[in-house]
Amino acid sequence: MTYRPKILAFAGSLRKDSYNKKLVKIAVKGAEHADAKVTYIDLKDYPLPIYDQEIEETSGLPENAVKLKKLMWEHDGFLLALPEYNSSLPAVFKNVIDWTSRNASKDEVYLSCFIDKAVAMMSASVGGLGGIRGLVHARAMFSNVYSMVLPAQKCIPFADKAFDGSGNLANPADQKEVLAIGEKLSRFLMKHKG
Ligand SMILES: Cc1cc2nc3c(=O)[nH]c(=O)nc-3n(C[C@H](O)[C@H](O)[C@H](O)COP(=O)(O)O)c2cc1C
Repeated sequence: MTYRPKILAFAGSLRKDSYNKKLVKIAVKGAEHADAKVTYIDLKDYPLPIYDQEIEETSGLPENAVKLKKLMWEHDGFLLALPEYNSSLPAVFKNVIDWTSRNASKDEVYLSCFIDKAVAMMSASVGGLGGIRGLVHARAMFSNVYSMVLPAQKCIPFADKAFDGSGNLANPADQKEVLAIGEKLSRFLMKHKG
C-alpha cells in the first residue's frame, strides 16, 4: 500500500486573524497536493497553564497537553508557522513544547513525541525580517529534541500587507514558495519513512 505522510499543522499564535495561521494554511495545501494527510489544529482549542513543575508533580499533565502529545505521536511530521516575539519564540508555542516534552506515563520514552519527526517551519511578521530570528531558536530547539528540521524555510515580512482577501499571499512567488514548503515536507517523509 502506498505510504501517505501524516502531518500535524499549526501556528504559534492564538490570534483569530493571525498571519501565521494564514501562512500555515497555505503550506497545508502544498502538503495535501503532495499527497499528505494533514491535520490542522488551532492552539486556541488547547488552552494550557504556563508550565509549572508543581502542577505536574501534583496533578500530572493537563488534559490538553496529553491530547497534543497524542496528536504528535500520531503524525510523522509537523508543519509550523511561528510568529517572532522579542526576537525569539512566542510563549504559547514554547509552552506547548515544554508541556508535551514531559512524560504522561512512566513507561513512555522521553521526548518520544519529537524523536524522528520531520519539521518544516515558516514565519510571518509585521516587521521587515519576517520572523527569521524566532526560527533560528525553533530550529535549535527541535534539533535538541531529536526532530529533523528541513533546511528549507520561508519568512514573510510586512505580513499586514502580504495577504489578499482570500488568505493567499499577494506575491505569486511567495505563494509558490510557501506551497513548496508543505510539498517538501510531504516528499521528505515519503522518501525517509515510506
Ligand atoms: C509581545 C510581542 C513581541 C513581538 N516581537 C516581535 C519581534 O521581535 N519581531 C517581529 O518581527 N515582530 C514582533 N512582534 C510583532 C508580530 O510580528 C505581530 O504581532 C504578528 O502579527 C504576530 O503574528 P500573528 O499575526 O500570527 O499573531 C511582536 C508582537 C508582540 C505582541
